[in-house]
Amino acid sequence: MAVIPVDIAGRPYEVKVGTGLLAGLAEHCQGRLRKRRVPVVTDQSVHAAWGGVIEAALHGAGHVAAWRILPPGEATKSWEQLSALVDWLLAEEVERGDHILALGGGVIGDLTGFAASILKRGCHFIQLPTTLLAQVDSSVGGKTAINTPAGKNLVGAFHQPSLVLADLAVLETLPRRELLAGYAEVVKYGLLGDADFFQWCDAHGAAMLDGDGALREYAVAHSVAAKARIVKEDERETLGLRALLNLGHTFGHALEAQTGFSDRLLHGEGVALGMVLAARYSARRGELPQASAEHVARHFAEVGMVSEIRDLGLNCDGRALVQHMLHDKKMDAGTLPFVLLKSIGEAWLAKDVALDDVAAFLDQQLAG
Ligand code: NAD
Ligand code: GLY
Repeated sequence: MAVIPVDIAGRPYEVKVGTGLLAGLAEHCQGRLRKRRVPVVTDQSVHAAWGGVIEAALHGAGHVAAWRILPPGEATKSWEQLSALVDWLLAEEVERGDHILALGGGVIGDLTGFAASILKRGCHFIQLPTTLLAQVDSSVGGKTAINTPAGKNLVGAFHQPSLVLADLAVLETLPRRELLAGYAEVVKYGLLGDADFFQWCDAHGAAMLDGDGALREYAVAHSVAAKARIVKEDERETLGLRALLNLGHTFGHALEAQTGFSDRLLHGEGVALGMVLAARYSARRGELPQASAEHVARHFAEVGMVSEIRDLGLNCDGRALVQHMLHDKKMDAGTLPFVLLKSIGEAWLAKDVALDDVAAFLDQQLAG
């Protein structure tokens, strides 16, 4: 097992990465479960796969799970589900000193974390991430949010968990497509700040995705450590450092919006394509060798991900994609910062990007 400290001033916590952590849940929670009933928020798919393990782990330590089982999918990050969840937590008489368990992917983690941030002005929660994306990204760092009709993640709070238990066993039931989508966020850490890790992904990414346990532990622990370093320095994304974690997200968000935030394009798939576009756009500006940009595209293609936006069948032009970017929550006084690459392993925040030029670039990419 790897243990990664997240040294946020005043609220440090640990991320444990290993196999079988859920089966030893009560022990790993180290006295944080104070009462017999333990509130656990999850979705139907995760409950079907892992509810029994949680039940047994809690039962063995004299607890009983109080389940809140929600529909799977992005639509669950809504005002309606938030309101119903908070009412349920109040009915369960959850106190500020209690810990709520969030068992699921980024949807459950984001919703539960936000509910914990507002319940009684803030109570504790523990992240039990069950997707690769949640293990390497969303469960760490304290961003919580719901979606509104105006857009994704527009209402939320920074609220750090007390503990994260990333059990690699859960990845065994995760659909391959979801695993690949999470892998985009793993590669992101290499691209934005760690050329050696990108090389590692080149050498071992495919075997890791195929199930090698030691490689999975390394990939998750290394990714979490990278995120922990950034979050420690810039928890609230005010210094321009945490913003680098948005590599690929501005282009990716536009693609997600164009596909209606639907199963046509998962978030991680959009991020992978977005990183290819960010790399190629960096090359267009003369700031990254074209060969490096093509290396990024080739890497995703080789593990079986879509790496060319012309293959999405979008039926729109570059200007339509740029229109989606104008609603990005990162818009700052009329300009949109873009995370671009100077090399594989060095990202930076460009604030001088002309959106007309981005539209022309996207037209080229759509044409192929
Ligand atoms: P998700 O939570 O929707 O999970 C994906 C699907 O996999 C769901 O259908 C779920 O039921 C299923 N699933 C989850 N774990 C499973 C398992 N072990 N076995 C079988 N099925 C399983 O999606 P996600 O990709 O984990 O998260 C996406 C969300 O995360 C988005 O809402 C995004 O905005 C958010 N996010 C947040 C942050 C952050 O910093 N807070 C970062 C990145 C993404
Ligand atoms: N996923 C981006 C962040 O946590 O900042």
